[in-house]
Amino acid sequence: MKRTHHCSELRLDHAGQTVTLSGWVHSRRDLGGLIFIDVRDREGRTQTVFDPSDLSPETFERASSLRSEAVVSVTGKVRQRPEGTNNPKIATGGIEVMASDLVVLNQAEVLPFPVDDPEVAAKVNEELRLQHRYLDLRRPEMVHNLRLRSKVATATRVYFDGQGFLEVETPILFKSTPEGAREFLVPSRVHPGQFYALPQSPQQFKQILMVAGVERYFQLAKCFRDEDLRADRQPEFTQIDVEMSFIEREDIYSLIEGLLKLVWKVALDLDIPTPFRRLTFAEAMNRFGIDKPDMRLGMELVDFTEEFRSSKFKVFSGAIANHGVVKALNAKGLADATQGQIEAMTECAKSFGAKGLAFIKVEGGEWKSPIVKFFSEEEKAALTQKLQIEEGDLILFAADQWLAACEILGRIRLYCADVLKSQGKLVVAADRFEFLWVVDFPLLSFDKEQNRWYSSHHPFTSPVAEDIPLLTSEPKKVRGQHYDVVVNGVELGGGSIRIHQPEVQKKIFEEVLQIPPDLVQARFGYMLEAFRYGCPPHGGIALGFDRLIAILCGTPSIRDVIAFPKTAKGADLMTHSPAAVEAKQLRDLHIELRVPKKELPANGRTG
Ligand code: AMO
Ligand code: AMP
Repeated sequence: MKRTHHCSELRLDHAGQTVTLSGWVHSRRDLGGLIFIDVRDREGRTQTVFDPSDLSPETFERASSLRSEAVVSVTGKVRQRPEGTNNPKIATGGIEVMASDLVVLNQAEVLPFPVDDPEVAAKVNEELRLQHRYLDLRRPEMVHNLRLRSKVATATRVYFDGQGFLEVETPILFKSTPEGAREFLVPSRVHPGQFYALPQSPQQFKQILMVAGVERYFQLAKCFRDEDLRADRQPEFTQIDVEMSFIEREDIYSLIEGLLKLVWKVALDLDIPTPFRRLTFAEAMNRFGIDKPDMRLGMELVDFTEEFRSSKFKVFSGAIANHGVVKALNAKGLADATQGQIEAMTECAKSFGAKGLAFIKVEGGEWKSPIVKFFSEEEKAALTQKLQIEEGDLILFAADQWLAACEILGRIRLYCADVLKSQGKLVVAADRFEFLWVVDFPLLSFDKEQNRWYSSHHPFTSPVAEDIPLLTSEPKKVRGQHYDVVVNGVELGGGSIRIHQPEVQKKIFEEVLQIPPDLVQARFGYMLEAFRYGCPPHGGIALGFDRLIAILCGTPSIRDVIAFPKTAKGADLMTHSPAAVEAKQLRDLHIELRVPKKELPANGRTG
């Protein structure tokens, strides 16, 4: 059963050699007395041919009774395929192996779904794929994703090693610091009533490593967040986590640009231009209505506040009088939007707080809209000129406070892009990657419900030096030394220059975030203490590794690049996790359940 070659290796110049291939029965066809078996392994597949006139009846019988996905070893002689039977779709399509022996290493039952046909496989329900992930991972597309992930991880390690970084592992059993997303808790047996928490990121440890003098740290780190899941979010995921001492923002930009340049070369053989474009948060919101703009889509938002300040259309002039703005976008070629699509857009806008969604359809040389009758000639001329309005366009408006108007139109822009893409009116090349840095985020955001400021990113981000005096007087105006790296509308990573002065950090916790001093001491005391013993200025970043690989693989879901992902409900369908536990385990952990009996899983023994 030891192979001589992988199933991707044999070519015409192997003709005449006797070889052994080991792998799975990808497909079997019985044709005119001959049996053709495609043997597949991790690397590829090769056609083997069983001719009854060359074989013992037992061997031929074994071959004719093989099921798909049985595990076999085939020995035989390589030969050129007969004229007209080449398969140009596979690398080994010019040859075949004339079998002289077949060892059946293991049988396979009938599969719950086929793995040999990409088109059929693509339609298989994802739950079924996740239940039988070992079969799903046999598909060449999935093997490709795993291989690429491994390759990029290796390139990343080599890159950081070359730049003088140390890979340091940080603990998975950490402590609860309920500042960001909800955490997963782990009860302690030895310390009754006390809990570990799984880390949302190694943030605090990596900063402590800077105090320790490690200077350059990186890690492919597992992170855990108990948040609502989506295609780009998993409860456990991996970050390329980085921290450096004695640096400024520019050092992180060039370090990460170097990494991504290398990764794109290794993974896709593409040269991406550096340095990346930079956009302030304000500019990103103004022009694209989102802090992670997809620059490939065009359709920038245009401001019309001055033009409509004294408009007869009260929806607009009223919003402006109320310190708001009027913004518009031109969805080129979407004048044929159906009533249903306009309603869906309006609903979408309303779900982001819009009061309505004014629009103009430019059709048959006319502006079709219930609101045009209120517009003056100057207003119309300004729209035509600034939005470059032409026949076939759909113009959409938001009149609201600045941030709300930007966010509403930002959503509508993405909706329109999806419609235009589905109609073939907007084409984005698969190998086009638009990278950018988004910088100058506000350090703080306001929580209306709780009536307090919270950190836009995390509480360790340093304010821009000249904004420090505004921290308590005008928190809204303080910019953070935070940066995000974005590609094609995906937030790939984010980081910041950190606060390294213990007194500034304490002020942020206590005076700005209004965490009571005793709580600050209980949660972050060790960090503030560490900072008092000689903390170098430092900063870092974390890239979402799963998102990075998903982009490289051209898949919208990070589940496709994680070997054993969880469903949107956080379940592992293959191992049936989470699951009930024995009553004794709970007793050992000093835990008593208060889940109503009817909500306990039927198969569970818990409690
Ligand atoms: P942040 O929370 O922005 O920063 O996370 C960094 C990157 O991690 C990825 N990411 C996720 N990927 C998959 N599933 C998730 N649930 C998920 N959450 C985040 C994203 C994101 O950009 N400690 C800071 C970094 C720093 O300041 O150095 C941090 O974790 O791609
Ligand atoms: P109304 O005068 O409320 O009937 O609104 C006239 C048009 O303006 C309708 O198409 C509304 O959807 C739209 N509209 C109302 N409020 C806003 C707003 N704040 N921003 C953009 N459009 C609006």
